[in-house]
Amino acid sequence: MITKAVIPAAGLGTRFLPATKAQPKEMLPIIDTPTIQYVVQEAVDSGIEDILIISGKGKRAIEDHFDRNPELEARLENNDKDALFHEIRHLADMANIHYIRQKEILGLGDAIMYARFHTGNEPFAVLLGDTIIDSAIPVTQQLIDAYAQYRCSVVAVEEVPKDKVSRYGIVGGKKLSDLILNISQFIEKPSIEEAPSNLAIAGRYILTPDIFVALKNTSQGKNNEVQLTDALMLLTKRQDVMAAIIEGKRYDIGNKLDYLKTTVEYGLKRKEFSADFYDFLKEVIREYENKR
Ligand code: UTP
Repeated sequence: MITKAVIPAAGLGTRFLPATKAQPKEMLPIIDTPTIQYVVQEAVDSGIEDILIISGKGKRAIEDHFDRNPELEARLENNDKDALFHEIRHLADMANIHYIRQKEILGLGDAIMYARFHTGNEPFAVLLGDTIIDSAIPVTQQLIDAYAQYRCSVVAVEEVPKDKVSRYGIVGGKKLSDLILNISQFIEKPSIEEAPSNLAIAGRYILTPDIFVALKNTSQGKNNEVQLTDALMLLTKRQDVMAAIIEGKRYDIGNKLDYLKTTVEYGLKRKEFSADFYDFLKEVIREYENKR
């Protein structure tokens, strides 16, 4: 049973400056819902009961978001805003959420290391706090199912177009079934020629406690950061690490263009204004094409 999840959310968000100078990128809203709320919801929908958020300087808004706000609740209740009241009240009860601060921003691997006393000897899920995945079955649940079968660390991967592999962390290995690969290679941003596959790491993982030993033995790489993929590569030398090809569409809101695309797609899905928004987009495109 996997009941614990870790959500790294301490990063500096340099790709999204200046918006992220004084606010966490994980709180950037997709319409009205902060990105990290989708991530917490995915964990909860996958049966996770206990969440550790790796926080840091300037990330207080995340803690406030998942806490009670009695003054706001009273105002909503008194003004007969029942639906909003329940929605806001529910945020504090979604899961058992804990926080730990990453003292220096030394990379995803370093952030995960902070979870070792919290997760102990249990395998745990990792969900990047700046990545939303829209899927029929929550992706963390898909990974938990793969873990139940293989009993080792599992990395979510998605197929990306072959000519775009150089933007991603790519895995290579031996196919065990249509959806599972036994990983023997992790390559960060390979050239098309170097890439062992078109399977990109998708920001969700199940990790066994052995990852902490691997992280301890992983030296700081690029930008003095400890890379989780380097530690996973080390782990593959000692034990199986699987890649699970997930069903779902990933949105990395940490880069501006993806953020914009996510907002448009989610806007088109919102029943209350989807038709109006669709008409607006058509009109904008028509005007744009006329001007060209
Ligand atoms: P990213 O590499 O996308 O985040 O990490 P970043 O470093 O904030 O991004 P840029 O490149 O500067 O724009 C993915 C997730 O891991 C967290 C981030 O907060 C993000 O949710 N992270 C990253 C940490 O918690 N600690 C780190 O040291 C690095």
